[in-house]
Amino acid sequence: MDTRDGMNSVGGRKRMSAAIEVEGLTYTYPDGTEALRGVTFAIAEGEAVGLVGPNGAGKSTLTWLLSGFLAPAAGWARICGLEVCKANLAQVRRRLGVIFQNPDDQLFMPTLFDDVAFGLLNLDHNSNVSTGKKNPHKRHAYAPDIEERVIGALRQVGLEAERHRFAGHLSAGQKRLAALAAVLAVQPEVLVLDEPTSDLDPRARRRFIEHMQTLPHARLIASHDLEMILDLCPRVLMLDRGLVAADGPAVDILGDAALVESHGLEVPYSLRRDHTHRFPLRGSPHEAEHRKQDERPGSGGATLAQP
Ligand SMILES: Nc1ncnc2c1ncn2[C@@H]1O[C@H](COP(=O)(O)OP(=O)(O)OP(=O)(O)O)[C@@H](O)[C@H]1O
Ligand SMILES: [Mg+2]
Repeated sequence: MDTRDGMNSVGGRKRMSAAIEVEGLTYTYPDGTEALRGVTFAIAEGEAVGLVGPNGAGKSTLTWLLSGFLAPAAGWARICGLEVCKANLAQVRRRLGVIFQNPDDQLFMPTLFDDVAFGLLNLDHNSNVSTGKKNPHKRHAYAPDIEERVIGALRQVGLEAERHRFAGHLSAGQKRLAALAAVLAVQPEVLVLDEPTSDLDPRARRRFIEHMQTLPHARLIASHDLEMILDLCPRVLMLDRGLVAADGPAVDILGDAALVESHGLEVPYSLRRDHTHRFPLRGSPHEAEHRKQDERPGSGGATLAQP
Protein backbone atom coordinates (compact mmCIF):
# COMPACT_ATOMS: atom_id res chain seq x y z
CA MET A 1 0.00 0.00 0.00
CA ASP A 2 2.98 2.27 0.51
CA THR A 3 3.41 4.64 -2.44
CA ARG A 4 6.48 6.34 -1.10
CA ASP A 5 8.46 5.80 -4.30
CA GLY A 6 5.90 7.67 -6.36
CA MET A 7 4.91 10.36 -3.90
CA ASN A 8 6.95 13.06 -5.52
CA SER A 9 5.68 12.41 -9.00
CA VAL A 10 2.51 13.82 -10.45
CA GLY A 11 1.40 12.52 -13.85
CA GLY A 12 4.72 10.68 -14.12
CA ARG A 13 6.77 13.90 -13.74
CA LYS A 14 9.21 14.14 -10.86
CA ARG A 15 8.67 17.13 -8.59
CA MET A 16 11.67 19.18 -7.56
CA SER A 17 10.78 19.77 -3.92
CA ALA A 18 8.31 18.49 -1.38
CA ALA A 19 5.93 20.82 0.46
CA ILE A 20 6.21 18.68 3.59
CA GLU A 21 8.95 16.14 4.31
CA VAL A 22 9.15 14.15 7.48
CA GLU A 23 11.88 11.63 8.26
CA GLY A 24 12.03 9.36 11.31
CA LEU A 25 10.01 11.83 13.37
CA THR A 26 9.87 10.79 17.01
CA TYR A 27 8.31 12.52 19.99
CA THR A 28 7.81 11.48 23.61
CA TYR A 29 5.79 13.67 26.00
CA PRO A 30 7.39 14.56 29.34
CA ASP A 31 5.24 11.93 31.10
CA GLY A 32 6.86 9.22 28.94
CA THR A 33 4.03 8.75 26.38
CA GLU A 34 5.61 7.83 23.05
CA ALA A 35 3.31 9.75 20.68
CA LEU A 36 5.39 9.43 17.48
CA ARG A 37 7.80 6.54 16.99
CA GLY A 38 9.59 7.21 13.70
CA VAL A 39 7.22 8.68 11.13
CA THR A 40 8.41 9.16 7.53
CA PHE A 41 6.49 10.57 4.56
CA ALA A 42 6.55 13.39 2.02
CA ILE A 43 3.84 15.52 0.44
CA ALA A 44 4.45 17.09 -2.96
CA GLU A 45 3.56 20.66 -3.92
CA GLY A 46 -0.18 20.92 -4.47
CA GLU A 47 -0.87 17.44 -3.07
CA ALA A 48 -3.78 16.89 -0.65
CA VAL A 49 -3.30 14.13 1.91
CA GLY A 50 -5.73 12.95 4.57
CA LEU A 51 -4.27 11.99 7.95
CA VAL A 52 -6.43 9.36 9.62
CA GLY A 53 -6.11 7.04 12.57
CA PRO A 54 -7.78 6.19 15.87
CA ASN A 55 -7.88 8.45 18.92
CA GLY A 56 -4.40 8.81 20.35
CA ALA A 57 -2.66 7.77 17.09
CA GLY A 58 -0.40 10.85 17.10
CA LYS A 59 -2.12 13.03 14.47
CA SER A 60 -2.29 16.20 16.57
CA THR A 61 1.21 15.64 17.93
CA LEU A 62 2.40 15.58 14.32
CA THR A 63 0.70 18.94 13.62
CA TRP A 64 2.42 20.48 16.68
CA LEU A 65 5.80 19.20 15.47
CA LEU A 66 5.24 20.45 11.90
CA SER A 67 4.47 23.92 13.21
CA GLY A 68 7.47 23.95 15.54
CA PHE A 69 5.57 24.18 18.83
CA LEU A 70 7.10 20.85 19.86
CA ALA A 71 10.65 19.78 18.99
CA PRO A 72 11.31 16.17 17.92
CA ALA A 73 13.37 13.80 20.05
CA ALA A 74 14.72 12.33 16.80
CA GLY A 75 14.20 12.81 13.07
CA TRP A 76 13.27 16.01 11.27
CA ALA A 77 10.51 17.81 9.39
CA ARG A 78 10.88 20.26 6.50
CA ILE A 79 8.32 22.71 5.13
CA CYS A 80 9.07 23.83 1.54
CA GLY A 81 12.63 22.64 2.05
CA LEU A 82 13.14 24.54 5.34
CA GLU A 83 13.88 22.44 8.39
CA VAL A 84 11.42 23.12 11.20
CA CYS A 85 13.75 24.37 13.93
CA LYS A 86 14.08 27.44 16.12
CA ALA A 87 16.31 29.34 13.66
CA ASN A 88 13.77 28.90 10.81
CA LEU A 89 10.51 29.31 12.70
CA ALA A 90 9.52 32.72 11.32
CA GLN A 91 10.12 31.57 7.75
CA VAL A 92 8.36 28.25 8.31
CA ARG A 93 5.30 29.99 9.77
CA ARG A 94 5.18 32.33 6.78
CA ARG A 95 4.77 29.29 4.54
CA LEU A 96 2.69 27.05 6.76
CA GLY A 97 -0.89 27.69 7.87
CA VAL A 98 -2.08 25.50 10.74
CA ILE A 99 -5.46 24.95 12.34
CA PHE A 100 -5.05 23.18 15.66
CA GLN A 101 -7.62 20.70 16.94
CA ASN A 102 -8.52 23.07 19.76
CA PRO A 103 -9.12 26.55 18.25
CA ASP A 104 -8.66 28.12 21.70
CA ASP A 105 -4.94 27.40 21.22
CA GLN A 106 -4.81 30.07 18.50
CA LEU A 107 -7.51 32.62 19.45
CA PHE A 108 -6.41 34.84 22.31
CA MET A 109 -6.63 38.48 21.19
CA PRO A 110 -9.25 41.02 22.42
CA THR A 111 -11.32 40.80 19.23
CA LEU A 112 -11.82 38.33 16.41
CA PHE A 113 -10.41 40.94 14.01
CA ASP A 114 -7.21 41.13 16.09
CA ASP A 115 -6.93 37.33 16.13
CA VAL A 116 -7.13 37.13 12.34
CA ALA A 117 -4.71 40.05 11.95
CA PHE A 118 -2.23 38.52 14.41
CA GLY A 119 -0.67 36.12 11.89
CA LEU A 120 -0.34 38.89 9.31
CA LEU A 121 1.40 41.21 11.77
CA ASN A 122 3.95 38.54 12.56
CA LEU A 123 4.97 37.73 9.01
CA ASP A 124 8.65 37.94 8.24
CA HIS A 125 10.13 40.80 6.25
CA ASN A 126 9.80 39.02 2.89
CA SER A 127 6.04 39.36 3.04
CA ASN A 128 4.21 41.85 0.89
CA VAL A 129 1.96 43.25 3.62
CA SER A 130 2.65 46.00 6.14
CA THR A 131 4.42 44.32 9.03
CA GLY A 132 3.89 44.71 12.69
CA LYS A 133 2.37 48.16 13.08
CA LYS A 134 -1.09 49.51 13.43
CA ASN A 135 -1.85 52.69 11.47
CA PRO A 136 -0.28 55.46 13.67
CA HIS A 137 -2.89 58.06 12.61
CA LYS A 138 -5.90 56.02 13.60
CA ARG A 139 -6.09 54.51 17.07
CA HIS A 140 -7.19 50.84 17.01
CA ALA A 141 -6.90 50.71 13.22
CA TYR A 142 -4.63 48.61 11.06
CA ALA A 143 -2.84 49.50 7.84
CA PRO A 144 -5.34 49.35 4.93
CA ASP A 145 -3.80 46.27 3.28
CA ILE A 146 -4.06 44.34 6.54
CA GLU A 147 -7.67 45.49 7.10
CA GLU A 148 -8.54 44.35 3.60
CA ARG A 149 -7.05 40.89 4.02
CA VAL A 150 -8.59 40.37 7.45
CA ILE A 151 -12.06 41.43 6.30
CA GLY A 152 -11.70 39.32 3.16
CA ALA A 153 -10.77 36.23 5.18
CA LEU A 154 -13.62 36.79 7.68
CA ARG A 155 -16.05 37.23 4.81
CA GLN A 156 -14.89 33.94 3.25
CA VAL A 157 -15.88 32.04 6.39
CA GLY A 158 -19.06 34.06 7.03
CA LEU A 159 -17.84 35.77 10.21
CA GLU A 160 -17.43 39.38 9.05
CA ALA A 161 -20.30 40.56 11.26
CA GLU A 162 -18.65 39.06 14.36
CA ARG A 163 -15.33 40.85 13.87
CA HIS A 164 -15.58 43.07 16.98
CA ARG A 165 -16.46 40.20 19.32
CA PHE A 166 -14.09 38.37 21.67
CA ALA A 167 -13.32 35.06 19.91
CA GLY A 168 -13.50 33.25 23.25
CA HIS A 169 -17.24 33.97 23.27
CA LEU A 170 -17.91 32.45 19.85
CA SER A 171 -19.54 29.05 19.45
CA ALA A 172 -17.29 26.01 18.89
CA GLY A 173 -18.01 25.96 15.15
CA GLN A 174 -17.52 29.73 14.85
CA LYS A 175 -14.14 29.40 16.61
CA ARG A 176 -13.07 26.76 14.08
CA LEU A 177 -14.10 29.04 11.22
CA ALA A 178 -12.24 31.91 12.90
CA ALA A 179 -9.06 29.80 13.03
CA LEU A 180 -9.57 29.03 9.34
CA ALA A 181 -9.93 32.77 8.58
CA ALA A 182 -6.65 33.45 10.40
CA VAL A 183 -4.93 30.88 8.18
CA LEU A 184 -6.54 32.14 4.95
CA ALA A 185 -5.54 35.74 5.71
CA VAL A 186 -1.85 34.82 5.75
CA GLN A 187 -2.13 33.04 2.38
CA PRO A 188 0.45 30.38 3.21
CA GLU A 189 1.87 27.87 0.73
CA VAL A 190 1.11 24.76 2.78
CA LEU A 191 -1.86 23.93 5.03
CA VAL A 192 -1.97 21.57 8.01
CA LEU A 193 -5.52 21.31 9.33
CA ASP A 194 -6.40 19.28 12.43
CA GLU A 195 -10.09 18.29 12.50
CA PRO A 196 -11.18 21.34 10.47
CA THR A 197 -14.81 20.21 10.11
CA SER A 198 -15.60 19.15 13.66
CA ASP A 199 -18.33 21.36 15.22
CA LEU A 200 -19.27 22.81 11.83
CA ASP A 201 -22.94 22.71 10.83
CA PRO A 202 -23.66 20.91 7.53
CA ARG A 203 -23.77 24.14 5.51
CA ALA A 204 -20.50 25.46 6.95
CA ARG A 205 -18.89 22.02 6.45
CA ARG A 206 -20.01 21.94 2.80
CA ARG A 207 -18.74 25.50 2.26
CA PHE A 208 -15.41 24.55 3.84
CA ILE A 209 -15.08 21.55 1.48
CA GLU A 210 -16.02 23.64 -1.55
CA HIS A 211 -13.58 26.37 -0.57
CA MET A 212 -10.77 23.86 -0.06
CA GLN A 213 -11.47 22.43 -3.52
CA THR A 214 -10.63 25.82 -5.02
CA LEU A 215 -7.27 26.16 -3.23
CA PRO A 216 -4.02 25.05 -4.86
CA HIS A 217 -2.11 24.53 -1.59
CA ALA A 218 -0.37 21.36 -0.54
CA ARG A 219 -2.28 20.19 2.51
CA LEU A 220 -2.36 17.61 5.26
CA ILE A 221 -5.82 17.24 6.81
CA ALA A 222 -6.19 15.22 10.01
CA SER A 223 -9.75 14.10 10.59
CA HIS A 224 -12.25 11.45 11.60
CA ASP A 225 -14.63 12.97 9.01
CA LEU A 226 -13.72 10.37 6.40
CA GLU A 227 -16.30 11.56 3.86
CA MET A 228 -14.64 14.99 3.88
CA ILE A 229 -11.25 13.29 3.49
CA LEU A 230 -12.61 11.40 0.46
CA ASP A 231 -13.93 14.67 -1.01
CA LEU A 232 -10.63 16.51 -0.60
CA CYS A 233 -7.73 14.04 -0.46
CA PRO A 234 -6.77 11.56 -3.19
CA ARG A 235 -4.15 10.13 -0.82
CA VAL A 236 -4.42 8.99 2.79
CA LEU A 237 -1.80 8.45 5.45
CA MET A 238 -2.95 6.27 8.33
CA LEU A 239 -1.25 6.62 11.69
CA ASP A 240 -1.65 4.24 14.61
CA ARG A 241 0.26 4.24 17.89
CA GLY A 242 2.80 6.70 16.54
CA LEU A 243 3.64 4.80 13.35
CA VAL A 244 2.52 4.98 9.70
CA ALA A 245 0.15 2.03 9.29
CA ALA A 246 -0.71 2.69 5.62
CA ASP A 247 0.00 5.27 2.92
CA GLY A 248 -1.70 5.23 -0.47
CA PRO A 249 -4.81 6.08 -2.53
CA ALA A 250 -7.68 7.17 -0.24
CA VAL A 251 -10.27 4.94 -1.89
CA ASP A 252 -8.06 1.85 -1.56
CA ILE A 253 -7.16 2.46 2.07
CA LEU A 254 -10.51 3.68 3.38
CA GLY A 255 -12.39 1.04 1.35
CA ASP A 256 -10.35 -1.80 2.88
CA ALA A 257 -12.63 -2.97 5.69
CA ALA A 258 -10.13 -5.30 7.32
CA LEU A 259 -7.44 -2.59 7.31
CA VAL A 260 -9.55 0.29 8.63
CA GLU A 261 -11.34 -1.81 11.26
CA SER A 262 -8.03 -3.14 12.58
CA HIS A 263 -7.06 0.50 13.20
CA GLY A 264 -10.23 1.63 14.95
CA LEU A 265 -11.92 3.16 11.88
CA GLU A 266 -14.85 2.20 9.67
CA VAL A 267 -15.32 2.19 5.91
CA PRO A 268 -17.04 5.52 5.07
CA TYR A 269 -20.68 5.27 4.05
CA SER A 270 -20.04 6.32 0.44
CA LEU A 271 -17.59 3.45 -0.07
CA ARG A 272 -19.87 0.78 1.41
CA ARG A 273 -21.24 -1.59 -1.14
CA ASP A 274 -24.29 -2.42 0.97
CA HIS A 275 -25.01 1.23 1.97
CA THR A 276 -26.35 0.39 5.41
CA HIS A 277 -25.21 1.84 8.69
CA ARG A 278 -26.21 -1.24 10.66
CA PHE A 279 -23.62 -3.71 9.44
CA PRO A 280 -19.94 -3.40 8.64
CA LEU A 281 -18.90 -4.15 5.06
CA ARG A 282 -19.61 -7.74 3.97
CA GLY A 283 -16.70 -10.00 4.68
CA SER A 284 -15.23 -7.69 7.34
CA PRO A 285 -14.04 -9.35 10.54
CA HIS A 286 -16.94 -7.89 12.58
CA GLU A 287 -19.80 -8.80 10.26
CA ALA A 288 -20.66 -12.18 11.83
CA GLU A 289 -20.53 -10.68 15.34
CA HIS A 290 -22.93 -7.85 14.41
CA ARG A 291 -25.36 -10.28 12.78
CA LYS A 292 -25.38 -12.51 15.87
CA GLN A 293 -26.24 -9.53 18.11
CA ASP A 294 -29.10 -8.45 15.85
CA GLU A 295 -30.59 -11.93 15.69
CA ARG A 296 -31.02 -12.12 19.48
CA PRO A 297 -34.68 -12.42 20.55
CA GLY A 298 -36.19 -8.96 20.95
CA SER A 299 -33.42 -7.20 19.08
CA GLY A 300 -35.77 -6.36 16.21
CA GLY A 301 -33.41 -7.71 13.57
CA ALA A 302 -32.20 -5.83 10.54
CA THR A 303 -34.47 -3.08 9.26
CA LEU A 304 -32.66 -2.56 5.99
CA ALA A 305 -32.54 -5.43 3.51
CA GLN A 306 -29.11 -6.70 2.56
CA PRO A 307 -28.60 -6.99 -1.22
N1 LIG B 1 0.27 16.88 26.67
C1 LIG B 1 0.37 15.54 26.64
N2 LIG B 1 1.04 14.88 27.61
C2 LIG B 1 1.16 13.53 27.57
N3 LIG B 1 0.66 12.75 26.59
C3 LIG B 1 -0.01 13.37 25.60
C4 LIG B 1 -0.21 14.79 25.58
N4 LIG B 1 -0.91 15.09 24.48
C5 LIG B 1 -1.16 13.92 23.85
N5 LIG B 1 -0.62 12.88 24.52
C6 LIG B 1 -0.65 11.45 24.15
O1 LIG B 1 0.03 11.32 22.91
C7 LIG B 1 -0.62 10.33 22.11
C8 LIG B 1 -1.01 10.96 20.79
O2 LIG B 1 -1.99 11.95 21.03
P1 LIG B 1 -2.57 12.86 19.87
O3 LIG B 1 -3.36 13.95 20.51
O4 LIG B 1 -1.45 13.25 18.98
O5 LIG B 1 -3.52 11.82 19.12
P2 LIG B 1 -4.56 12.07 17.94
O6 LIG B 1 -4.26 11.08 16.87
O7 LIG B 1 -4.57 13.49 17.56
O8 LIG B 1 -5.95 11.65 18.62
P3 LIG B 1 -7.45 12.23 18.41
O9 LIG B 1 -8.01 11.49 17.23
O10 LIG B 1 -8.14 11.85 19.67
O11 LIG B 1 -7.37 13.71 18.19
C9 LIG B 1 -1.80 9.81 22.93
O12 LIG B 1 -1.39 8.63 23.58
C10 LIG B 1 -2.04 10.90 23.93
O13 LIG B 1 -2.61 10.38 25.11
MG1 LIG C 1 -5.98 14.95 17.57
